[in-house]
Amino acid sequence: MSTVLQGKKGVVFGVANNRSIAWAVCEAAKQHGAEVCIGVQNERMAESVSKLFEGDAFDIVIADLNVDSQIEAAADKLSSRFGKLDFAVHSVAYALREDLANPFLQTSREGFHTALETSAYSFIAMAAKLEPILADDASIITMTYLGSQRVLPNYNVMGVAKAALEAAARYLAYDLGTRGIRVNAVSPGPINTVAARGIKGFSSILDTIAERAPLKRPAEQKEVAAASVWLLSDMSRGVTGQTIYVDSGYSIMGL
Ligand SMILES: NC(=O)c1ccc[n+]([C@@H]2O[C@H](COP(=O)([O-])OP(=O)(O)OC[C@H]3O[C@@H](n4cnc5c(N)ncnc54)[C@H](O)[C@@H]3O)[C@@H](O)[C@H]2O)c1
Repeated sequence: MSTVLQGKKGVVFGVANNRSIAWAVCEAAKQHGAEVCIGVQNERMAESVSKLFEGDAFDIVIADLNVDSQIEAAADKLSSRFGKLDFAVHSVAYALREDLANPFLQTSREGFHTALETSAYSFIAMAAKLEPILADDASIITMTYLGSQRVLPNYNVMGVAKAALEAAARYLAYDLGTRGIRVNAVSPGPINTVAARGIKGFSSILDTIAERAPLKRPAEQKEVAAASVWLLSDMSRGVTGQTIYVDSGYSIMGL
């Protein structure tokens, strides 16, 4: 295993269980030499996530990324534990179930607000609250999806949220670039997780990928994590403001 993250310390928000993309990123970052703190949404998740590993392999910090005071408290904890952070990962999204099933035209004001706040604004809030404790060459990433660029039936308001998220990554890259801090988005193909199962007809999307993607199979958490490690490492030091697809090549297809 390489040591591309040796000596680096960071936080990964968005671990719910062992299928979470964020969990794969935590494991990979650690394997590549990093010290990792896992960010979870609430106490209940902290309890179940702590069962994923033995001893003190990872630290855990709790923050609902929709609550500024909780992000600030998490930043204080991270600062006392690590000093400056070399990376931060945002792997967080949520939309009302009905907005991932009904026609997009029926998106409610509340549903729009919920999806955009949790899935896009939370990234800006995380970056802003962590900024004072980020090292000058830190790397930040978020997880997005092709539904930001193309119409994928039932993805609906999450597609709009992911478009906002990708634009936010570019604007954050511009602002934080003056400090040498990089901001990028990773765009995984569909993977069977709790968040994905909320999308109506999700399993048929996996079948379509297996049939049409150049690699003839869906991407896996570990592949997304490997690309994430590259983006968090100095190997990608010239890359910022980008959306990097880890989707078995599906996004290049016209038909
Ligand atoms: N699974 C896929 O097919 C897929 C594809 C492309 C992108 N993504 C994106 O990857 C990211 C991770 O999703 P996943 O598939 O690993 O599912 P997941 O359900 O394991 O992770 C989603 C995480 O978001 C967290 N979260 C939701 N609201 C939060 C809040 N207010 N504060 C803090 N945390 C909150 C949940 O606790 C959970 O840990 C999401 O942004 C998702 O949109 C997933």
